Amino acid sequence: MKIGVIGIGITKFGERWSESLRDLLLDAQLRALNDSKIAPEQIDALFTGNMIAGIASGQLHVGAMAAENLNINKPSIRVEGACASGSIALRQGISAIESGSANIVMVNGVEKMTDISTEQVTTALMGAGDEELEGFNGLTFPGLYALLANAYMKEYGLTRETLAEVSVKNHFHGARNSYAQFQNELTIEGVINSTMVADPLTLMDCSPITDGAASIIIASEQVAKKMGSEVYITGSGLATDTLSLARRKSLLEIKAGKLAAEQAYTQAKITPKDVSFAEVHDCFSIAEIYAVEALGFAKQGKGAELYTTKQTYFDGKKPVNTSGGLKACGHPVGATGIKQAIEATMQLRGEAGKRQVNGATIGVTHNVGGSGATACVHVFKKMK
Ligand code: COA
Repeated sequence: MKIGVIGIGITKFGERWSESLRDLLLDAQLRALNDSKIAPEQIDALFTGNMIAGIASGQLHVGAMAAENLNINKPSIRVEGACASGSIALRQGISAIESGSANIVMVNGVEKMTDISTEQVTTALMGAGDEELEGFNGLTFPGLYALLANAYMKEYGLTRETLAEVSVKNHFHGARNSYAQFQNELTIEGVINSTMVADPLTLMDCSPITDGAASIIIASEQVAKKMGSEVYITGSGLATDTLSLARRKSLLEIKAGKLAAEQAYTQAKITPKDVSFAEVHDCFSIAEIYAVEALGFAKQGKGAELYTTKQTYFDGKKPVNTSGGLKACGHPVGATGIKQAIEATMQLRGEAGKRQVNGATIGVTHNVGGSGATACVHVFKKMK
């Protein structure tokens, strides 16, 4: 599989009080169009990842909004898969091109989360868990990931200090990314001593509530080659698991992540060793440890070693989350998967500035929905 990336556009992530859902989406779409130098009429179809606009903005039918923004009447569909909505939308765009029904597809992700209270956001996000078994009984996403963290730390001896390294590294990268929500560096003590949210996870272990949008324009290999694209998607994997943690066979791995990675690697004909860098789903610090294991960068239970040896910095052996990840870059849930794809493209184009991974040739994106009920992995490759 070879699907070219011909345009990318992203808004600043953060608290965007003066912009609406539509404004953010339009901003990202126009940036991507400008980058690709194509006209809106050349787009054959649109897919837009969004999770909570129905609750946060009272706005459904975001697919139609994305097409209306460009003043075109093309097929346009909203895609929802909780926090993995963006990546699943990308996968749908790839399928449309592979099926031959489209040559050029715009894939967007958008979320406007700060217009409602934290309690309302927390309740809305909990829709990604199992409402009967978890939400109804008072669990929240910080609570679910705290359960995972406790299970993992007990079994594998992951220390609180090493877990904090994930957020320290992600803020280090965020401080070098102009579109990140948080551009300040952190210390281990700063993470551990910040406000407790769900033991052992503190505020600085949590991704924030974020407004933002991102757009990517993809095209068939033939069209992309003609346009001189250097970045291609060569693998796409998607897998699912139980909605609730209670029904999982093990809390010590995110099985859907492993399955999605295996599919994407097989399709792209690569192994974890070939990967130059990865953008992974660190909705909470512990999630990044599960992610690097799912991607095969470390064996199960050994992910912490990448952090004690500082391999995941942009200039390390296995850079992870050079954008700042969900923690520092922010997590506008529907947009995160597209942001990851944009960061991968920027790295492969050599446009990542102060966080540029030298000589990057293959990047992987890993996007999770809920507490691991959905996982989507894509492989991006630089081709001359
Ligand atoms: N990291 C760093 N700083 C954060 C932060 C975070 N995750 N969340 C909030 N802040 C900062 C705010 O910028 C603000 O700083 P300021 O006082 O300098 O302006 C301060 O902390 C208080 O912010 P506030 O909005 O009152 O925080 P909150 O208590 O309402 O929300 C959380 C904090 C952790 C509850 C919220 O960020 C959250 O729910 N995160 C998880 C989101 C989630 O579950 N996503 C889906 C994952 S699957």
